[in-house]
Amino acid sequence: MTADPYTQSGEFLDVFSRDAWQALRPAVVEAMRHAAPGQEPIVDVGAGTGLGTLLVAEAVPDVDIIAVEPSPILRAVLLARVAGDEALRRRVTVVAAGVEDVRLPSRLGGVLAINMLGHLSPQRRRVFWNDLRARLAPSAPLIVNLQPPAEVTTVPQTTFASVQIGRHIYEGSGAARPSGENTVTWTMRYRILDPGGAVERELVADYPWHVITPAQVLDELTAAGFAARLRELDVVVATPHT
Ligand SMILES: C[S@@+](CC[C@H](N)C(=O)[O-])C[C@H]1O[C@@H](n2cnc3c(N)ncnc32)[C@H](O)[C@@H]1O
Repeated sequence: MTADPYTQSGEFLDVFSRDAWQALRPAVVEAMRHAAPGQEPIVDVGAGTGLGTLLVAEAVPDVDIIAVEPSPILRAVLLARVAGDEALRRRVTVVAAGVEDVRLPSRLGGVLAINMLGHLSPQRRRVFWNDLRARLAPSAPLIVNLQPPAEVTTVPQTTFASVQIGRHIYEGSGAARPSGENTVTWTMRYRILDPGGAVERELVADYPWHVITPAQVLDELTAAGFAARLRELDVVVATPHT
């Protein structure tokens, strides 16, 4: 496994991801309609704190779910989420791994890889697509999404979330700058404000992000043997080409 970019910011990921998951929900539920045709397990890759895992469990009853998450801090939240729910405890296995070292079952009923593609280099993506193509059951979906920027560019400082919890406001913002042929570096700023607006805590974290355009991801998936379509909110759904 490589260095964990969420060592510090992991504390806030669940709080800042909730609204995004509300928006993604219909597209992901729809994409899961043909998942697990033979009750094969579904994998949530880079499951984070488990918001997507929870949605898979709701959308596809009964089948086992494998939640793969390399970051210890995010995995702790994920494990607590699973442990706190009787139904999830029976179905969800949490695996400490990344795409590079995970050992997956030979047959899969679906794969979710949401908000994580930018962590994979172009070479790693190709290996990942080929590996999943060999394992996915016919009609089983691979669901990924794209996040901005699609190209190497500068993204000015933007506040993307402001969430009140108790007396605190959690504010997340970020800016990106070009840092390589296919990468930008995001500088994320997380602030906790008191009711008067004063900053109680502030944390700044950098992480590299591989950019990819919708056309590129569709091409890569087609080359790996998938039929892939771009849906709303830059969600891409791919099924093994027959
Ligand atoms: C922005 S978070 C998204 C988490 C979750 N999928 C969600 O949407 O709420 C990106 C996730 O990708 C994971 N990740 C980073 N590198 C990875 C890798 N090489 N293999 C699998 N997951 C990885 C991170 O640990 C983190 O959980």
